[in-house]
Amino acid sequence: MDYSVADNALKDKVILVTGAGAGIGKQAAISFAQHGATVILLGRTVKKLEQTYDEIEQAGYPQPAIIPLDMKGASKQNYLDMVDTIESQFGRLDGVLHNASILGVISPFDQIGEDSFDDVMQINVKAQFLLSQAVLPLLHKASDARMVFTSSTVGHVGRAFWGTYAMSKFATEGMMQVLADELSDTNIRVNAINPGGTRTGMRAKAFPAEDSDLLKTPLDIMPLYLYLMAPEGKAIHGQCIDAQPKK
Ligand SMILES: NC(=O)c1ccc[n+]([C@@H]2O[C@H](COP(=O)([O-])OP(=O)(O)OC[C@H]3O[C@@H](n4cnc5c(N)ncnc54)[C@H](OP(=O)(O)O)[C@@H]3O)[C@@H](O)[C@H]2O)c1
Repeated sequence: MDYSVADNALKDKVILVTGAGAGIGKQAAISFAQHGATVILLGRTVKKLEQTYDEIEQAGYPQPAIIPLDMKGASKQNYLDMVDTIESQFGRLDGVLHNASILGVISPFDQIGEDSFDDVMQINVKAQFLLSQAVLPLLHKASDARMVFTSSTVGHVGRAFWGTYAMSKFATEGMMQVLADELSDTNIRVNAINPGGTRTGMRAKAFPAEDSDLLKTPLDIMPLYLYLMAPEGKAIHGQCIDAQPKK
């Protein structure tokens, strides 16, 4: 599939990226900005968000904004306040990339701790649910809006020891499908991406012994991210697409 988009495909769009301080989210923010978007960088570590901000600014792309938020503790009101800030500062929101996640603990099912389960479900699922509810009114006002979730290969088929993370990604795909079905007659297109093994901190934590040079980089998988945010991808709705499909 050819996922190419125009150089200015995201011109004048305002796009919120969660987990924009590292890994895939950082690269997505930079790539969206490179294609003309004003990106809102959400994450928990301000220093990392500032690095993303600086890279975007130094490249001469549209000036981004930073929203520091720890999704582990964020309440419904925090997300509603955030949306008010976005509306007052930018007057619009055209897209959301739900990217922030944690891996939790890779362990046998019977050893999954309740606290670890709660943390993964809070950050990977409930935070996305609350954020999605909060942004919907603004997305409805946009002429061509996007919501892109992030799944995983273990969100399609469960795998031993991937416990809560796998369950959270099944929930993510479920959330995407429910929303896509509800929003099918609207201006909002809803999809998910499974990045596949990608050279990031999370991947290194999950597979510490592998040779990371053999993995795709976040930049390598950007064409699909750009396509689903851009006008070129408008026909796609309710799908979870593998960024690295098996050949
Ligand atoms: N890399 C892969 O091979 C792979 C494969 C399949 C799916 N995925 C999915 O792709 C997405 C990105 O993964 P990645 O590999 O880029 O991971 P990563 O390098 O660990 O980056 C995750 C990002 O999420 C942020 N984050 C984590 N907890 C947060 C919280 N409580 N509040 C706000 N932000 C938080 C992190 O912020 P800090 O930097 O401040 O911690 C970081 O910016 C995830 O949804 C992941 O499940 C990745």
